[in-house]
Amino acid sequence: MKYFIGNWKMFGIPKSINILNKINSYYLKDKNRKKYRVIITPPYTLLETYSKFFKKKRISIGSQNCYQKDKFSSDTSAISPYMIKKVGAEYTLVGHSDNRKEGDTDLMLKNKVTYALKNNLKVVFCIGENKIQKSKNKTLDVLKKQITKVLNKKLNKNNIIVAYEPIWSIGTGKIPTNKELEKITIHIKKILKGIFQNKSPAVLYGGSVDGNSIKNFKEIKEIDGFLIGGASKSSKKFIDIINNYYR
Ligand code: PGA
Repeated sequence: MKYFIGNWKMFGIPKSINILNKINSYYLKDKNRKKYRVIITPPYTLLETYSKFFKKKRISIGSQNCYQKDKFSSDTSAISPYMIKKVGAEYTLVGHSDNRKEGDTDLMLKNKVTYALKNNLKVVFCIGENKIQKSKNKTLDVLKKQITKVLNKKLNKNNIIVAYEPIWSIGTGKIPTNKELEKITIHIKKILKGIFQNKSPAVLYGGSVDGNSIKNFKEIKEIDGFLIGGASKSSKKFIDIINNYYR
């Protein structure tokens, strides 16, 4: 099973559901549809209406983040995994570099993953090195630390997806070479197998994925799907990605 996850970031109002409707119509007609799953992560403000609307349809809805506590607390503006689950969402991203930049620590991420899973959300755990780490050849070490500080064998691996997103690639149009990406994906899966009794969760790639770059990425069989930012805000661009992947 491949995943195409659209991360809307700070984008969307109620009527943006039109974009999802178009993606859903494409999906229903696509002869390849059994091979993949579409997940969209709109902002918190749209989680409830979109989750309800797509409940019996094929698009799954997730949040872009969640708070590191379980249920209710006195933390102003915080939204817990419990609250996200209760409005009907199925997934949550955890550890996106935008949120790491704002101060998410490994311990906070560990709590987020733990409470999200406890509340039956599926977790898309994001990792990735920055430009300086890459230039110092630290990528593999950085990824290993990011994974092992947060994931452990007690967690339900069936509800975890890992998304590799090099920070230098997000929104920049710069992408790793196929050789680099293949090596990194294999490295990530090896670490995950070490944690989860020799079975790796799905590993996705994210960073400047669009209808064009997907033609390179599809050559790398180890990649189980994509986390798509900019190109997920247009139904045409998002559909182009899926279309070119299976072409
Ligand atoms: P991008 O963003 O596709 O716009 O590079 C990816 C992401 O941040 O998830």
